[in-house]
Amino acid sequence: MIDRARFEDLATSVRVLCPEECMALARSAADLFDLAALEREGGDPYVLLWRTEHSEAWLNNWRDPRDTGFHDHGGSCVGVYVLGGRARAEALVIGGRRRVTELGAGDSYAAPATGIHRMEHEPGAVTIHVYSPPLSEIGHYEVVDGELHRHPGPSDKVSPPSPALSATLADRPGD
Ligand SMILES: [Fe+2]
Repeated sequence: MIDRARFEDLATSVRVLCPEECMALARSAADLFDLAALEREGGDPYVLLWRTEHSEAWLNNWRDPRDTGFHDHGGSCVGVYVLGGRARAEALVIGGRRRVTELGAGDSYAAPATGIHRMEHEPGAVTIHVYSPPLSEIGHYEVVDGELHRHPGPSDKVSPPSPALSATLADRPGD
């Protein structure tokens, strides 16, 4: 059980944050957790830490592998901090080398409000995600009859993988 009052001092921004500020906030929130206790206690795979007028934050604690598929955040930027385990972030690149960022404990990642990306969480990955402004929806991307389609979904539901879109990128070299 997570006591949300612990995060009150972090969630006091009076304006929309940039990706780097979200990343710094995710790192500060991580300082309030004991990773060993999280791993021991388990709990829900995703927990809302705060939602204010200008930002919201989630703790993700995946016991199983998780592929978010390619998605956007409906106009919100994001900053991610990895508390434990491993994850992989990939921006959607058109016509170039794949842009995959390998993330381990202590690493951070950010994406702009206009970006489209995918995250793969390995089993046991524990991450904190700060979004600003608060999420309004998640746009999920997939290839349908050769066209790239966007499917809007609710912000509090996990986005599904993008198997067809991911397959088109699988043979491309990375950075
Ligand atoms: Fe995301």
